[in-house]
Amino acid sequence: MDLFDKVSRTAAKHSPLEEEIRKLPVPIGSVFLGKDGKIRPAAFRETGMTLVCKGHDAIAKVFPKTISKSKSLVLEAVAADESESVKGKRVAVLFSGGPAAGGHNVLAGLSAALGRDNTLLGIKQGPKGLMKGDLFEIKEENIRSIVNIGGFDFLGTDRTKIKSAEQFEKVMQTVVKNKLDGLVVVGGDDSNTNAAFIAEYLEAGGIDCSVVGIPKTIDGDMAAGKYLPISFGFDTATKIFSELVGNLTQDAASAVKYYHFVKLMGRTASKITLEVALQTKPAVALISEEIAQKNMSLDDIVDYIVRIVAQRRLKGLNHGVILVPEGLVEFIPEMSRLIAELNKMLAEYERDIADLPTLENKREFLLPLLTPRSAQLMASLPPDLQEMLILDRDDHGNVKVSQIETEKLLIEKIRYRMSEMKRHTDRFFGDEEGKIKATPQQVEDFKKATLSTQSHFLGYEGRSSKPTKFDAAFTFQLGLAASSLVLAGKTGYMAAITDFDKGGRVLGLPLTGLITVETRKGKEEFVIEKSLVELTSPSFRVFAQNRDKWSKEDLFSSPGAIQYWGPTSKQLPIIVALDQGYPDFDNFDLGKEKQIEMQ
Ligand code: FBP
Repeated sequence: MDLFDKVSRTAAKHSPLEEEIRKLPVPIGSVFLGKDGKIRPAAFRETGMTLVCKGHDAIAKVFPKTISKSKSLVLEAVAADESESVKGKRVAVLFSGGPAAGGHNVLAGLSAALGRDNTLLGIKQGPKGLMKGDLFEIKEENIRSIVNIGGFDFLGTDRTKIKSAEQFEKVMQTVVKNKLDGLVVVGGDDSNTNAAFIAEYLEAGGIDCSVVGIPKTIDGDMAAGKYLPISFGFDTATKIFSELVGNLTQDAASAVKYYHFVKLMGRTASKITLEVALQTKPAVALISEEIAQKNMSLDDIVDYIVRIVAQRRLKGLNHGVILVPEGLVEFIPEMSRLIAELNKMLAEYERDIADLPTLENKREFLLPLLTPRSAQLMASLPPDLQEMLILDRDDHGNVKVSQIETEKLLIEKIRYRMSEMKRHTDRFFGDEEGKIKATPQQVEDFKKATLSTQSHFLGYEGRSSKPTKFDAAFTFQLGLAASSLVLAGKTGYMAAITDFDKGGRVLGLPLTGLITVETRKGKEEFVIEKSLVELTSPSFRVFAQNRDKWSKEDLFSSPGAIQYWGPTSKQLPIIVALDQGYPDFDNFDLGKEKQIEMQ
């Protein structure tokens, strides 16, 4: 074959790996398999377990219809009666929020459970497309081309929060006009909050359309303990980040001249950072939830890192990798106070601030309104960071932490502190408590070495990869579960899978049981509660017990690339295995492997 030809033939997702991966079988849970071995929708039974969040009374007033229907009961999938089958249903699906690996397999799962007797429609560009009524029918050939392939590009996505009466009305019009029996929302906490509100609105309007959520986000914060260990996309993203961080640890030890500061996505939660730290054993990994609990100021964090860097330097190690969770600034007490004050002011004076033409004008307007402590802190921050804090919130009221260069802020402060240490060695080195013990020769060597740093931000590169074997299976089955919930006429539920070590248990979780009250843009809002790193969890404890060792010498490991065949191809995230109490993380079990095809 002509090589020119060969190169161009691999365009449009036809790389040799993509071709092979489309054929990769996925494990399927027994509840979705008929006696003939073909894929079928499951039925659901009530379990008797209820799911309620704190603030239930207030939540019950906002969601009276869906709560009275679900009775807050968790549902469990069971094999359906094969003599009955549902026909003629029309189900639409949308992606919402950031991409996460496996989204396309959700579509494949939805389609497989609906079968040829029902119709699957795709909504373009997420909630925005839902309001516009931008729908099209997803055909079998579409599914064949996207199965096991990453990204959200087949449908597109966006982050619109559906909140006004006019927006809900538009959603209802789309549902009615397209005669939808089901609407599936693939998203994180904010998107599933949208789903809960839409379910309630349609129910109250007497519209018979099941609204079902699917837990997506690389951040891993859309989780519900034993009912839902993790959201989809987390496994793939953390494996990609772990490979890259592993490579950096290896590079740092090879070139022996750089400290690599790596900010890792994950928004509020440090789950990604914790998983990557357990996989790679870096010199330092900060966990935001711990920083908040220990009430550590920015200076305390700088001190903590500088101490490790200095002690490594005394041992001749002037290199390493430092992991920084994306949402760190929101957890540093003085910063979170400042953000809370700003949020309040931004909500109170929204119009006045919007009218001011320049950032400087906005800053001048806001500074006198802040408490003196916060005003002083604000003034000391780099202009870019001030801009991010003043200007940007997404539609759901989240500070855009992905755009805050925390790693660079830390580098700046650490470099300054290190130069101070060189100039005033007696303040930092010595035998007194709190000082670093060092011989005069070591202090002289310390003074001679320089701190060279590199900064990195890993996030977007982990969201749209081909899913790992785990995410491929998890998402396909979440799709099967969501279609099954719709066909069973359930509304206001999230499809969930648990027990990844014993064949998988498929559940329906009442969305209202996951909702809590949070302050966003200075106002109290009903949103799905984020699942953060628990400092009492086994995963955090394993990290905390080991990090000292990992900081003192190079004990890093480089876990390598995602595998589809081979020793780590069936690995689960370490934090999931530890926190769920699984015997191992080497082999997930979500059922028997089967080729994905229309039945
Ligand atoms: P979701 O919660 O929507 O899945 O978003 C995940 C995420 O990747 C965060 O980790 C990050 O803070 C954010 O999206 C970045 O958002 P954007 O895509 O708008 O830049």
